[in-house]
Amino acid sequence: MRALVEQHLGGGDPIGWFEPLYDQAGGRPDAVPWAHLAPHPYLTDWLDDPLVEVEGPRAIVVGCGLGDDAAELASRGFEVTAFDVAPSAVRWAAERFADLPITWEVADLLTTPERWQGAFDLVVEVRTVQSLPGVIRDAAMQAIGGLAAPGGVVVAVALMATSTEVARAHDGPPWAQAPSELAAYRAAGLDQVALEHPDPEEDGTMEVRTTWRR
Ligand SMILES: C[S@@+](CC[C@H](N)C(=O)[O-])C[C@H]1O[C@@H](n2cnc3c(N)ncnc32)[C@H](O)[C@@H]1O
Repeated sequence: MRALVEQHLGGGDPIGWFEPLYDQAGGRPDAVPWAHLAPHPYLTDWLDDPLVEVEGPRAIVVGCGLGDDAAELASRGFEVTAFDVAPSAVRWAAERFADLPITWEVADLLTTPERWQGAFDLVVEVRTVQSLPGVIRDAAMQAIGGLAAPGGVVVAVALMATSTEVARAHDGPPWAQAPSELAAYRAAGLDQVALEHPDPEEDGTMEVRTTWRR
């Protein structure tokens, strides 16, 4: 994976490595480093015991990968749109969950369709922002916020460092976020409802779940 990432980053294309990674996996989930073939437990916990009310059924999953989070939402009754920049991932996810009424789309978070702006009651982002280098993260986070309807909720799961210094020293992907980066969600008009995490690992990082309302 590292060679693929470096080749694309070096060529000024920070998201170009995802499609070849999924394509080269050839249908083997063990060749996709983040594929657990299950919804993220932070998401299922959240859905079991929501921190705030989600006021409508429209949900969108950002960087859906192999689709487990989208499937979880659909099986709980949400009207789900799920998208990823990698066509091979979207095809794969759609095949895995062909029995569920999910709208699968190939789209780049940084240029999402106009019809998606402010259109979702629940926006779910799991480990996409952390897989993007710092240069495009602010834009990515603001784009995530922009998908939420007024009053809509964003639930985001990301690797976070305890400080900017730890984040700078952390080699990725994933690239741990500095706590200060959350300002990009605020800039998108989101108010923070909660920030939850376990104790940091020895390297000063932890997987954080943040909840926001627009
Ligand atoms: C680390 S993976 C996580 C996938 C999935 N959310 C999960 O938790 O298994 C990051 C995903 O984000 C997708 N992605 C990266 N940049 C993207 C962008 N700009 N727009 C849409 N999807 C993107 C990648 O193709 C990949 O599927």
